[in-house]
Amino acid sequence: MIKPFNLVILLSGAGSNALNLIGHFHDKTYFDKHTFVSKVISNNPDAKGLLKAQSKGVKTAILNHKDFIRREDFDSVLANLVLESSPNLILLAGFMRVLSEAFLSRIKVPILNIHPSLLPLHKGAHAIEDSFKDASQFGGVSVHYVTKELDSGAILVQEKIPKASNIKDYEKDIHDLEYKLYVEAVLKVLKGS
Ligand code: GRF
Repeated sequence: MIKPFNLVILLSGAGSNALNLIGHFHDKTYFDKHTFVSKVISNNPDAKGLLKAQSKGVKTAILNHKDFIRREDFDSVLANLVLESSPNLILLAGFMRVLSEAFLSRIKVPILNIHPSLLPLHKGAHAIEDSFKDASQFGGVSVHYVTKELDSGAILVQEKIPKASNIKDYEKDIHDLEYKLYVEAVLKVLKGS
């Protein structure tokens, strides 16, 4: 019997990737049918992603980093909150915090992040703009394992796309690619586990 595969998502903002992952894995199709998102956690109490998750019946929790003086204390309480759900995989989806050893050393399951560039190019919060402006005809999306260095862990999946002629269309193309690639990345881990 296949064991249930439990995902926890961390986010800080709009949550369109989280919504897409929930939509996909709660659709109960073929290989994904034992996979579910058990909890969505945000460091930002106003994150729209919380409402999106709730609208799909997924439990949410808020842990505001502003309530903590030390990063390590926030990370340690965040680890407790994540571990309460006993996830098999943790997904960062627009989670705007770098995680320290206080979190990473407590977590024994893979942690993935999605980033809207062809890493190692264009790390950081302005990756879509930065990659649109560079000289290449291509941009892309990467899903990588999380380490304590920003956007730097081993790449699990990466795909490139030609750049649209304006940033608005490019941004849309990048987000569409993100939705496809994050599901692929999760399935890759799931099938290898
Ligand atoms: C995405 O572009 C993701 O790659 C980046 O942050 C953005 C989050 O968007 N890390 P959303 O909150 O999933 O809509």
